[in-house]
Amino acid sequence: MSEITVRKIRFSFEHSLDLSQSAGNLNVILPPLALSMTMPYLEPYLIRTMKVAQKQITDAELAEDVRCFCQQEGHHFRNHAMLNDEIRAQFEPGVADQLRAIEADLEADYQRFSRTKGLRFNVAYAEGFEAMTCAGALAAAEHGAFEEGDMMPGGEIWAWHMAEEIEHRTVAFNVFQHLVGSYPYRILFGTWSQWHYVRYIGRFAACMAAGLGHSMKRDHSPTNRAALRNYLRTWSPWYDPAKIAVPLAVEGLLARYSALAEAEAR
Ligand SMILES: [Fe+2]
Ligand SMILES: [Fe+2]
Repeated sequence: MSEITVRKIRFSFEHSLDLSQSAGNLNVILPPLALSMTMPYLEPYLIRTMKVAQKQITDAELAEDVRCFCQQEGHHFRNHAMLNDEIRAQFEPGVADQLRAIEADLEADYQRFSRTKGLRFNVAYAEGFEAMTCAGALAAAEHGAFEEGDMMPGGEIWAWHMAEEIEHRTVAFNVFQHLVGSYPYRILFGTWSQWHYVRYIGRFAACMAAGLGHSMKRDHSPTNRAALRNYLRTWSPWYDPAKIAVPLAVEGLLARYSALAEAEAR
């Protein structure tokens, strides 16, 4: 039995965004919106990878975690796809078309990785992405980013998604250790995957910024500095996400979204 809970929730994003009111805050707001734009391509790729990995997993507990991981990621990207419709609608049609072109490039990359790369590479990509996201999600939680009244554009999707990323933080790592287990390979290809992914965040954010007449500047906030510190710890040969305690605030969020999912199911 997995300790990961699958929470099927559908958020409503109608009128949840108004970037014209956020002109002074775009350096902070656009990177998460860029992250949202990647989700309907990245998360299905993670699921495809895990479904291939699943056939080689000989540990029943890990296999069950992988099943829950795939279901959580499936609910994440479906919500982000709806948020992304609202994001594109914030822009002139030409800019929305440019966003769609970047989405097509990203999807082509992930389809190619699934088709032509080996399982080792794809599992290392998944672990690289998951380690980086967990580092960022923990930093955001530590700095109160998911507290009520301090939500990012799009609202509660972020608190729900990042809490579940922390909840399933061990899965890709454990799959990597179970099937590959090489520290140099994890660092080499995990870092390459992060570079590949972050480049797309930069492309999406720059495209949105240009559409709003803004040019992006690096955000040196305490949250970003904490995310960098957490991220650097993932390079340790002794890194193991199982050793990371789930912050109390995140436990509270997970309980809240469990109750919300149960209410939606009724
Ligand atoms: Fe996710
Ligand atoms: Fe994830």
